[in-house]
Amino acid sequence: MALYENLKVFSGNAHRKLAKDICRYLGIPLGECEVFKFSNDNTFVRIRENIRQQDVFLVQPIAFPVNDSIMELLIMIDAAKRASAGRITAVVPYFAYARSDKKDQPRVPITARLVANLIETAGADRVLTLELHAGQIQGFFNIPLDELSAIPSLAHHFRNRKVKNNTVIVATDAGDAKRARNMANRLDAHLAIVEKVRIGNQERVEAATLIGDVRDKTAIIVDDEIGTGGTVIATADTIRSHGARDIYCYAAHPVLAGKAPEILENSVIKELVVTDSLPVPPSKMGTKTSVISVAPMLGEAIHRIHSGSSVGAMFDLDSA
Ligand code: R5P
Repeated sequence: MALYENLKVFSGNAHRKLAKDICRYLGIPLGECEVFKFSNDNTFVRIRENIRQQDVFLVQPIAFPVNDSIMELLIMIDAAKRASAGRITAVVPYFAYARSDKKDQPRVPITARLVANLIETAGADRVLTLELHAGQIQGFFNIPLDELSAIPSLAHHFRNRKVKNNTVIVATDAGDAKRARNMANRLDAHLAIVEKVRIGNQERVEAATLIGDVRDKTAIIVDDEIGTGGTVIATADTIRSHGARDIYCYAAHPVLAGKAPEILENSVIKELVVTDSLPVPPSKMGTKTSVISVAPMLGEAIHRIHSGSSVGAMFDLDSA
């Protein structure tokens, strides 16, 4: 019996290349599925193969255009459910709206929770995701969720740089300290935290206080995502003014909104390393940008979920 007789992987339009790379890792073809819009702007999905009682994985990061990506995912889940799939896993390498995870101003929504509810209501049985903005978002789902970490791959990439100088990992705010600590442990590096202040709901960021010592050290700023680039630029400027030498930036999700690629290109940052959880079109690839693929990690997680083996063990085995 073939290993993956009951396993099917399909993709929406958000990031077909990632879905294909995952399938290449698994050694299976990408499932055939049409996902398009009619002229009235309504999204249509048709799964073009039999998936009765199959273990179905739908790959769809919530990429730009974000709301279309969500609708495609929900409609794909509905189509799979009505086609009698045995189990449906939403593979969402980037979970947009994750920053809206609390009521931190009067009369605002908790959109991350709403999106989680929508995925569940559409009929997903499980979720596989990567580097959530905050781990607590896992609890917005009442179905099993596996969250993978990009930190081991990012740390491995930096280790290959063979930087001799003393290294410090810099968190871009107190809430991100755990992620930075994880990276610091893997690289046997120091830890520093820059306190971030957001100005109202405009996408403006000011870095305030630096906790820790960065003087004469190679600094690696670690963040979950780069949106406008404001956070990492403010962090980089702060640590440079405190004497940091070479400054690298490692982030899982390359949202790279608006002028972010240009701003980062002209910044003090020496190298920007991101994953392919989201597509990075050539127009967003600066000369300093490196992209690490998470397809093998997602493929391995899919293999383990399908075969009922531990996903957590992937990280225990990591060569930290
Ligand atoms: C926010 O708290 C996140 O961890 C990132 O720092 C943020 O999403 C980056 O956004 P931007 O690049 O727009 O400052």
